[in-house]
Amino acid sequence: MEYIKDLLLPLKNSFFSNRSSKIIPAMRNIPTFTLPHTGDKIPAVAFGSGSKHRLRKWSDPKLSKDTVDETIVRIIMDALKAGFNHLDTAESYLTRIEIGEALKRSGVDRSKLWITDKYNQGWILDDGQVLRSGSPSGPYESLKKGLKMMGLKYVDLFLIHGPYFNPQTCDITLEEAWKQMERIQKEGLARNIGVSNFNASRLRKLYEIADVKPQVDQVEYHLYEQEPDLIEFCKDHDIFVEAYTPLTPMFASKVGENRPLNPIIDKLCHKYHVEPNQLLLRWVYQSGVLPITTSSKLSRMTETFKIFDFELEKTDFDLLQKVGKSFHYRHYFRNIFENDH
Ligand SMILES: NC(=O)c1ccc[n+]([C@@H]2O[C@H](COP(=O)([O-])OP(=O)(O)OC[C@H]3O[C@@H](n4cnc5c(N)ncnc54)[C@H](OP(=O)(O)O)[C@@H]3O)[C@@H](O)[C@H]2O)c1
Repeated sequence: MEYIKDLLLPLKNSFFSNRSSKIIPAMRNIPTFTLPHTGDKIPAVAFGSGSKHRLRKWSDPKLSKDTVDETIVRIIMDALKAGFNHLDTAESYLTRIEIGEALKRSGVDRSKLWITDKYNQGWILDDGQVLRSGSPSGPYESLKKGLKMMGLKYVDLFLIHGPYFNPQTCDITLEEAWKQMERIQKEGLARNIGVSNFNASRLRKLYEIADVKPQVDQVEYHLYEQEPDLIEFCKDHDIFVEAYTPLTPMFASKVGENRPLNPIIDKLCHKYHVEPNQLLLRWVYQSGVLPITTSSKLSRMTETFKIFDFELEKTDFDLLQKVGKSFHYRHYFRNIFENDH
């Protein structure tokens, strides 16, 4: 009997591997930015597993950080298939588990991917609501849990998700959290460390206490939120900027109707034969900032890469920048970026 089982085993394995979800990612030549301190090359566009995917998980009472949402797994596998080699997740999104499933099922070579994760220190929302940390003892505990959920030995970049450190949100100070971040990098659990949602003044304070300087700040950045002070501080201090919500100017549901860039976006899309999302992502990329975008649709994911096939002429780039500055819109964390300097 044992003998027959041994004979059948390869057949059984090949049957299951044929039915597995392994994918062949589209071959793409995706440009990179070089991180200033470690010299690591970071793929110049990222696919986000937060925003709409986070809302999906947060709003369904049947879903939690420990349950796999098949829709999100499918979306992340589509992103890998489309050729994204840079995925963005966070403890607070609850999507680490789907990232792990998608990586396992797709069979994509880990060494060819860039994975960014973030520590959930807890939040104070603009309406005053307090959300407690996912790991009150700090980023070390958070990343250990994250690596297990994602089935990884390390992440390429680990960020403190926001500057909300007080006894209501978590049990540590920012200084203590950053010491843990430094330990995380030293132990090789994250190749690079940084922050998210730090304005220039908070970044300056962190910069002064940090032995290992933050490598990245991931912030809201688009034509209607150009963050000149922050960008200048980051440039002067070798901190690389990543942009979330880069498509914001496209959405009347966010910025309102008849905004000043609308006719210019139309005109330039016509001139460069691109779609508005491509124009907006290209502007972010061409400004030296890394766009993090997302979609649930494979066709849109695939279209994203067109941003590397055209270049905005300087006059068009400057026009977008100038007209963008004439109207201001921020979607996230006004309590830090508009009231705290
Ligand atoms: N650090 C932070 O605090 C923070 C905060 C927010 C976000 N993030 C990260 O940034 C990622 C991206 O954020 P985001 O979703 O706001 O980015 P976004 O790229 O500005 O917007 C993505 C949204 O645009 C829609 N979309 C994409 N292409 C489109 C097109 N051609 N036409 C019309 N709609 C289109 C997508 O919907 P469809 O599915 O319908 O295509 C999706 O809902 C998040 O997933 C997360 O990883 C970080």
